[in-house]
Amino acid sequence: MTTAGGGAARTAMEQAATLVGEAGAIVVSTGAGMSSESGVRTFRGRDGWWRERRAEELATPEALRRDPRLVWEWYAERLLASRELTPHPGYDALVRLEREGGARTTVVTQNVDGLHSRAGSRDVVELHGSLRSASCLDRCGEAPVTIDGELLSELPPRCPCGSLLRPDVVLFGEPLPEDSLRRAFRLAAKCDVMLVVGTSMLVYPAAALPHLALERSVPVVEVNTDATSITRHPGVVHLLGPAGEVLPELLAEAGI
Ligand code: OAD
Repeated sequence: MTTAGGGAARTAMEQAATLVGEAGAIVVSTGAGMSSESGVRTFRGRDGWWRERRAEELATPEALRRDPRLVWEWYAERLLASRELTPHPGYDALVRLEREGGARTTVVTQNVDGLHSRAGSRDVVELHGSLRSASCLDRCGEAPVTIDGELLSELPPRCPCGSLLRPDVVLFGEPLPEDSLRRAFRLAAKCDVMLVVGTSMLVYPAAALPHLALERSVPVVEVNTDATSITRHPGVVHLLGPAGEVLPELLAEAGI
């Protein structure tokens, strides 16, 4: 399919709009680039987290046990920052797609910032968990607690049983939440268009979802400010640009 850029950009947008306008079931798979225009840092970009910090120092169960204060400070910073943020127009476009488009639309996100739900998307699968709540690191059985200012007033927060609390996000080396993963793969196996927005396509199993679509000859519309490993695949329509601009344009072009 056509890759955007120069004179071909319009053609790619038109192709994508036709696909989205005629689809019966759409999966929108989003990554950190979806949130970047709302002020959330990506992981691997020029200003990404993993340029200054090592994932193993912050986002693993071992790191949490070794230096819980450091790890919690990082998550607290991200959580408090994300509370101040406003979803950009790309989020509103996805809400409109779900409510007013002709297709059953589900957002499957790797993001833990909750911005899709805050924007108004109803059907959201959070593959990497969420920063909203925390649970006992030693799984004592206590119910998860909301992460709020009070919980974060003394770091690291502890479970009533005395063990450390951990944010309910997926840490490196951990399996993804089973229900979310199963649902994401079931939807990816049934959709007739997949939108892939703002992910570097480097972290599995999330990165497997577009491949699952492409193996079934289901078209993939990729929105990204850069190229990824799937950009040149013949089944991919690549819309080069920021999600906050490209998604509203796509919806407008599709007449939604
Ligand atoms: P990355 O930081 O790896 O990739 C972000 C992608 O978004 C890149 O391909 C950018 O080109 C693109 N991008 C940046 N700004 C954009 C914009 N305004 N519009 C569209 N695209 C834009 O983030 P993810 O692929 O989400 O996992 O990373 C996946 C996982 O790696 C994260 O969930 C996290 C991380 O380690 C865990 O913490 C388990």
